[in-house]
Amino acid sequence: MDLLKARILKDGQAINEHVLKVDSFLNHQVDPVLINAVGQEFARYFADSLQGEKIDKVVTIESSGIAPAMFTAAALGVPLLILKKQASRILNSDVYQAQVHSFTKDLDYQLTVAKKYLQAGQKVLMIDDFLANGQAALGVLDICKQADVKLLGIGIVIEKSFQEGRALLEAEAMNVYSLARISKLSAETITFAD
Ligand code: G4P
Repeated sequence: MDLLKARILKDGQAINEHVLKVDSFLNHQVDPVLINAVGQEFARYFADSLQGEKIDKVVTIESSGIAPAMFTAAALGVPLLILKKQASRILNSDVYQAQVHSFTKDLDYQLTVAKKYLQAGQKVLMIDDFLANGQAALGVLDICKQADVKLLGIGIVIEKSFQEGRALLEAEAMNVYSLARISKLSAETITFAD
């Protein structure tokens, strides 16, 4: 997606070889015109690649995934379900949970969602801001399996292709669509994979 790549080159800041700061348009302040275009592109791609298969809802993880996921859900005309991050395990039979380890932030959290919002047989699309090591997406896949829900595809705004997330998700036969794929980060340059 050229508009997004141009914005990354203009306003993105590599803070080291692993982490890209995009606070001015995605993670802290949000550019609604750009992120609306992101949502439209996800809706277009998945409508095409799923050949019109019905999507019941869009899912994301709080907090930075919410903006692109919301615009995608609006473009598709379906609800957005936001998975919560709990710091510690809560014993509650009304929720599905999956443990996720974040290598970027070096912490564990429990991905949590109320059972009533994921019903067996439903089909969902996941949207997130970054794909790094793939652990968040694998957590969502785990929850979908617990709920007997089909994860039809994963839309990512910025993929760091030099980390292992994509390979792990492809090993699970997931349909992963990333709008900007970064192959290399350094203080001077941001290199795209395609
Ligand atoms: P993974 O799910 O792909 O394994 O990723 P990982 O745990 O390593 O990182 C997850 C968190 O770190 C996410 O934020 C993600 O948005 C953020 N992140 C990963 N790489 C980058 C990066 O290069 N730049 C920025 N700005 N963020 C990155 P989170 O924990 O979900 O927090 P939130 O910001 O969504 O609240």
